[in-house]
Amino acid sequence: MKNMRMYDLIMKKRNGGALSKAEIYFMVEGYTKGEIPDYQMSAMMMAVYFVGMNEEETFHLTMAMAHSGEMLDLSAIDGIKVDKHSTGGVGDKTSLALTPMVAACGVKIAKMSGRGLGHTGGTIDKLESFAGFSTAISTEDFFKNVNEIGISIMGQTKELAPADKLLYALRDVTATVDNMSLIASSIMSKKLAAGADAIVLDVKTGSGAFMKKEADAFALAKEMVQLGKNAGRNTAAVVSDMDQPLGFAVGNALEVKEAIETLKGNGPEDFTELCLTLGSYMLLMGGAAKTEEEGREMLKEAVADGRALRKLAEFVKAQGGDEKMVYEPELLPRARMVEPVLAEGDGYVERLVCDEVGICSLILGGGRETKESVIDLSVGIVLEKKVGAQVKKGDVLAWLHANDSERLQAAKERLLAAYTIGKDKKSEGKVIVGIVK
Ligand code: URA
Repeated sequence: MKNMRMYDLIMKKRNGGALSKAEIYFMVEGYTKGEIPDYQMSAMMMAVYFVGMNEEETFHLTMAMAHSGEMLDLSAIDGIKVDKHSTGGVGDKTSLALTPMVAACGVKIAKMSGRGLGHTGGTIDKLESFAGFSTAISTEDFFKNVNEIGISIMGQTKELAPADKLLYALRDVTATVDNMSLIASSIMSKKLAAGADAIVLDVKTGSGAFMKKEADAFALAKEMVQLGKNAGRNTAAVVSDMDQPLGFAVGNALEVKEAIETLKGNGPEDFTELCLTLGSYMLLMGGAAKTEEEGREMLKEAVADGRALRKLAEFVKAQGGDEKMVYEPELLPRARMVEPVLAEGDGYVERLVCDEVGICSLILGGGRETKESVIDLSVGIVLEKKVGAQVKKGDVLAWLHANDSERLQAAKERLLAAYTIGKDKKSEGKVIVGIVK
């Protein structure tokens, strides 16, 4: 590596070449240490954006980023540890309901989660709706909780894949995020460093997803599953719909409430189905079920007999949160104003632009516009009508939960514009688009 120069690597990639393992490690290590400047790495990312990376290069990039910091050793936790990751979307509260369901069936969840930025929320923000809840726990407490109650979620540490953190921030401001190899290696480097034996990915597709086109979502899913397998981790992906929000609730405490209802068996159909599908693969890969069907039945039973809800309460309590809120969700943060958005004509909901619903939640104060923003956990949207629903003039399309009249007015206008009411009854579409394994 002594004679390697970043200039030569940029030129090689720009001219269509493939980088060797040594060259990729040189680049990732040098950038992490601050020895390679942002302007050279920006040029490299743009070259990769246009030229692409082959399977081997993508694998080396993933491993180099995963090894750029601490590789978490979960061997202090008995059994097979299964992690789950979603590429993100509007109303995606899956981890809140899914992880207690799976833990209640005997598969250990040792998970690192993040906060939200922009119009999609983060699991940690949502969990902080429980008064006192903290994900800033020590690794010892994290292991102890997983061993004792089967579930713990901690904030992503700075030491986890630092190269990805730097590179992702750079890509974000140089228009180089949306390249398949770069996205796949970014996500998988963090998952591999987080130490689980098996990984179930939820790759979203549709207007509210990173991958708007189904074919791109499948390509990303295949690439990530292959990376996981090549790194020796059992990996599968569910491609799921994000053309409209998942479930009805969008906004931190409102989503927690919906997750609680789902754990009681009263959840929205699409959200429940997604939890059962992802969960059944987690049970299968965690060795608790022999088939996907058996896993599904086990999850349904854990919901029906109250074990899944009790697991959420145990988990909340173990991380300092108020478990009473699990059983009495009306104690969760509540907004002062709740106002309807009314339909202006008759017909069917033909379209509901997913990103726009997320942006309305952001306008109400439920998301972060910058890393420093403080979020209002109580605000958000509860949809009444989704794609395929019949509406009459004056019907409630959605409820807005707000603490500020100006924000409420702005969100109202924007949400109304996000709906297309037409003459044709469109099918709701399926939440599960496909499986890659
Ligand atoms: N999420 C990530 O973590 N990385 C990407 O590059 C894109 C989405």
